[in-house]
Amino acid sequence: MTTRPLHARASDALTGAADVPGDKSISHRALMLGGVAVGRTRITGLLEGEDVHATAAALRALGVTVTREGPGIWTVDGVGLGGLAEPAQVLDMGNSGTAARLLLGLLATHDLIAFMSGDASLNRRPMARVTAPLSRMGADFVTRGGRLPLVVRGAKRPIPIIHRMEVASAQVKSAVLLAGLSAPGLTTVIEPAATRDHTERMLRHFGGTVSTEMLEDGATAITVEGQPELTAAPIAVPGDPSSAAFPAVAALLVPGSEVTLRHVGMNFLRTGLYESLIEMGADIGIDPTGEAGGEPVADLTIRSGSLKGVTVPAERAPRMIDEYPILAIAAACAQGTTRLLGLGELRVKESDRLAMIAAGLAACGVALEMGEDSLTIHGAGHPPKGGALVATAFDHRIAMSFLVLGLVSAEPVAVDDTTAIATSFPGFEALMAGLGARIVEGSRW
Ligand code: S3P
Repeated sequence: MTTRPLHARASDALTGAADVPGDKSISHRALMLGGVAVGRTRITGLLEGEDVHATAAALRALGVTVTREGPGIWTVDGVGLGGLAEPAQVLDMGNSGTAARLLLGLLATHDLIAFMSGDASLNRRPMARVTAPLSRMGADFVTRGGRLPLVVRGAKRPIPIIHRMEVASAQVKSAVLLAGLSAPGLTTVIEPAATRDHTERMLRHFGGTVSTEMLEDGATAITVEGQPELTAAPIAVPGDPSSAAFPAVAALLVPGSEVTLRHVGMNFLRTGLYESLIEMGADIGIDPTGEAGGEPVADLTIRSGSLKGVTVPAERAPRMIDEYPILAIAAACAQGTTRLLGLGELRVKESDRLAMIAAGLAACGVALEMGEDSLTIHGAGHPPKGGALVATAFDHRIAMSFLVLGLVSAEPVAVDDTTAIATSFPGFEALMAGLGARIVEGSRW
């Protein structure tokens, strides 16, 4: 595979307004639910990143007609619940954990056999967290030690279950709920802490019945009614708050910047980063502009300024799980110590993100301590030295985060490969250049 190193240099003030690409989580769900609904679902603002293309290709292999009508405008002709066809080739989920785990949920309660694989990164990630509950629903799996590649034989007669999750994972929750759609009766997932609820919102949008109940121990029980009539419904995908995070933190750090990011999804279960940055003293104006796809959206206006270190509690982790790499960059430039707690799940993302963040920051001259599931970053009140080539392990968020650091560090920061950025944020380089960021080709400066 060819790599594409880039480096970022100290930039003048970032200014202007931009639209970030569509939300990745919602894009996957729109295609999948559209695929098992009855009728034609029209999606606007779909993320056209590699991860979402993997979902679209897999659905096509399962007999769903998925058509690109124009930029971000897609239609899905659903086959109805139970209507997915046995795929004649291996389903290749690329780099996408969400695509793999959610689709396994659908496949587990369809009467078919499917083979699934992914890229080297995805094939290292744990799948037992979904195959265990899905097995209890009647599916059979042969896995490579709980990892992809795997084969699933979906249940002929799916069994509804109650599943208590050990880790707070929206992917696991969604997989079980999607499987529950084809089971008779009620399927319940109990989550130890609330995670993104896009699946639940979209199921209701398609006419499904989903209820949530707070339990005495603080956990939440989410219950889906099986065998509903899911009816196609239009979906407008909001901008991805996880992608907006990169230009937002860049604007906070580069002196004199003022940037507006339009139409960003503001689901409470996704906004932990923005809450943390505001606690650090960030100037972020949030101007609500309505709703898209059943999700609140806002325009964000970010002005640069100094930041101070904070403690980000473990309880907030599910609401900002993908944002620790970029928060760590902000912390490295802040005044004082930032403590990030409850980071165990970062070890099983597209890379061991905790280790990759720590190694990259250390290479850039940042003082830190890494624990098993925590990271303590000592900010000096000004950007670090930089001047390093940072390893990314084909992780899009590690690559984008360290490029943001290079916009303010004393010396440039290079990343060894940026091809993974296309999984989630295809227009990243152009968007950042449009705001005035100096991100250039090559690993040398
Ligand atoms: C996602 C859930 C999260 C997140 C991922 C997207 C989703 O993963 O990290 O990028 O769309 O449900 P986990 O459920 O594994 O925490």
